[in-house]
Amino acid sequence: MMKTKRLTTILRRSCAMLLTICLLACTLCGCTGEESGGNITKKKDNNKIQIGMTFDSFVIERWQRDRDVFVSMAKELGAEVNIQNANGDISEQKKQIEYFIKKGMDVIVIVCIDSMAVKANIQKAKESGIKVIAYDRLISDSNVDFYISFDNEKVGQMMGQALVDNGLTDGKVLMVCGPHSDNNVPMVGKGFKEIMQENGNEIIDTFYADGWKAELATDYMEKNMSGVIECDAIMCGNDDLASRVVTALSEKRLAGKKLVVGQDADLEACQRIVEGTQLMTVYKPIEKLAQAAAEIAVKMAKGEEVTTQSGQISTISDGTYEIPCVKIDPVSVTAENMDEVIIKSGFHLKEDVYLNVHE
Ligand code: GAL
Repeated sequence: MMKTKRLTTILRRSCAMLLTICLLACTLCGCTGEESGGNITKKKDNNKIQIGMTFDSFVIERWQRDRDVFVSMAKELGAEVNIQNANGDISEQKKQIEYFIKKGMDVIVIVCIDSMAVKANIQKAKESGIKVIAYDRLISDSNVDFYISFDNEKVGQMMGQALVDNGLTDGKVLMVCGPHSDNNVPMVGKGFKEIMQENGNEIIDTFYADGWKAELATDYMEKNMSGVIECDAIMCGNDDLASRVVTALSEKRLAGKKLVVGQDADLEACQRIVEGTQLMTVYKPIEKLAQAAAEIAVKMAKGEEVTTQSGQISTISDGTYEIPCVKIDPVSVTAENMDEVIIKSGFHLKEDVYLNVHE
């Protein structure tokens, strides 16, 4: 009797020992089904929708907002998001798309640096059964599954109309635009030139800043001061470029003496508008764009029909294919409606916009 009891005890202890060794071995070699990456092992929940999003860069203010809103909305809808920043480098962005394909993402969302450079990567993604969304910037000849942006032609028309409403007819205008590689740039330019032409305003020169590099606008202003002095107004492709244009004007005591327009409603641009050195900017409801994009990405991942409250779904040609798209309406902002549009929407705080304005 005693012998059997001792034997049972020895057996129990050996099993417990064996189990402990197995568990220890599993944890060390990561075979507990957890994905080990770096120092922190995070259980990859395979049931969650996986979205990969690659951004051009976060240098320009608006993109941080796009990222934060997109991620929080996607998470709310039960998806996981892997954000990559290409820092303005198209070869890096192509690598990021390839990485997402390798990881087997359900959807890839692209804020494209160069609309002509990722066709092969997108084709490979689609062949792997991955949905591809062009975010804010249309991608050429690549048959993406969806394009969501703002009405960029309307952005340009609003810039032009703000100049005309401020009395600019039969005047001379400089255009300091973003890069050719951004499909939005010709769309904004088309809308702007339409309004200029209708009101007898002449475009005396056009500059394109590669990679949206604002320092190139500074160089342009310094090298073309004769055109700057001759012109009545300067259209800027975004508020970051406008900040350099206004700085260059102020160095010649011309700030506020030339009409300057931009887009993105950056905080500094809103400050310049209430301080009188920039005429207008275009407010683009980023929350609406990013939330709609997240909703569409999740619906696509689930194989559900794509619907959105953010606007009418239509199609747009990418040069070869008709692409389903939504284009959200932008809003023109001047000193007159700054509070109504920017402060009331919570896009910027009143005390920040009026920081340098003393009642
Ligand atoms: C463009 C976009 C603009 C601006 C720019 C970068 O594609 O249409 O709104 O965000 O990128 O500042």
